[in-house]
Amino acid sequence: MTETKFTPRVFSGIQPSGNLHLGNYLGALKRFVDMQGPEKETVYCMVDLHAITVWQEPKELAHSTRELCAGFIAAGIDPEQSILFNQSQVPEHTQLAWIFNCVARMGWMQRMTQWKDKAGKNQQNASLGLLAYPSLMAADILVYHATHVPVGDDQKQHLELTRDIAIKFNNDFGVDFFPITEPVIEGAATRVMSLRDGSKKMSKSDPSDMSRINMTDDADTIAKKIRKAKTDPDALPSEVDGLSERPEARNLVNIYAALSNQTTDEVLAEVGGKQFGEFKPMLADLAVAKLSPISTEMARLMGEEAEIDRILAKGADKARAIAAPILRQTYEIVGMVGAKQG
Ligand code: TYM
Repeated sequence: MTETKFTPRVFSGIQPSGNLHLGNYLGALKRFVDMQGPEKETVYCMVDLHAITVWQEPKELAHSTRELCAGFIAAGIDPEQSILFNQSQVPEHTQLAWIFNCVARMGWMQRMTQWKDKAGKNQQNASLGLLAYPSLMAADILVYHATHVPVGDDQKQHLELTRDIAIKFNNDFGVDFFPITEPVIEGAATRVMSLRDGSKKMSKSDPSDMSRINMTDDADTIAKKIRKAKTDPDALPSEVDGLSERPEARNLVNIYAALSNQTTDEVLAEVGGKQFGEFKPMLADLAVAKLSPISTEMARLMGEEAEIDRILAKGADKARAIAAPILRQTYEIVGMVGAKQG
């Protein structure tokens, strides 16, 4: 890890668009919970402004934002210990994003694989926000001078861009102001794959609901989706090498490892030699045991909408207390008159 003058601070975000799924949980949320502790400040955000880079029905967006907040808390984020809020309540994110829009280059944005995937062949018709998305993401992180960002593997390129923006800003203005953030991409499930196709990432945009486990699925649905997950006819190997050409088998073993807090090697030492007919029920039992309490608690919290809104507003106040002075200093560095006041 690089030494910096910055105090350790964790930041990460999840989009409130559609359902929270097992990939979000194992690749991000569960790890956010693990990073919570007295030695580091942890800041977690529902990035509603990122979500609207593609069309969102207003009512559904509001519902998804509250449901995501319920998911954070049900998974173990303590709003007293972590700062938990939605992005649009902290205007400093978009204010810093504008500065970064003027630091980052068009070419950097156009190179992003997520832009190419999401805009597809119809780039002229994509929103300008979708292109500028990574610049807002850099602002999310850097407006807190965050040093560590836990994410799944698919966000790696965006975090490299965040570092590029910080480096260029520091160079352009001759300062050492923004930290060079460390991506934290760790564990057995940094890339959870579709249950129907081991070469595709588990995602909320997959048209098949059988491809993913949603955090709101009940026990029967979870068990059914695992029972029907695509596999191959062979028994499980005892060593990780034996999974290299078997993407579906590797995915299920990795999910088992992440859910049971073990390494893939440890899991294979236990299940090597078993057929899927035996392994799938083990995985289904484990998944139900770990996920059902979360979905039950999410449903309960969703009955307390006013309480969720209160938590988000309180989190936003705490977030602004950190972000506002950093934005003010940024304005001052850039030469905005009046930046010293307030
Ligand atoms: P989003 O909302 O697509 O996903 C939220 C988090 O879940 C992880 N993830 C996965 N991990 C493992 N396997 C999968 N199949 C899988 N699918 C999703 C993502 O890597 C992510 O960590 N741009 C971000 C949100 C964002 C953000 C930020 C993240 C906005 N600003 C600042 C970190 C810091 C996104 O769209 O994530």
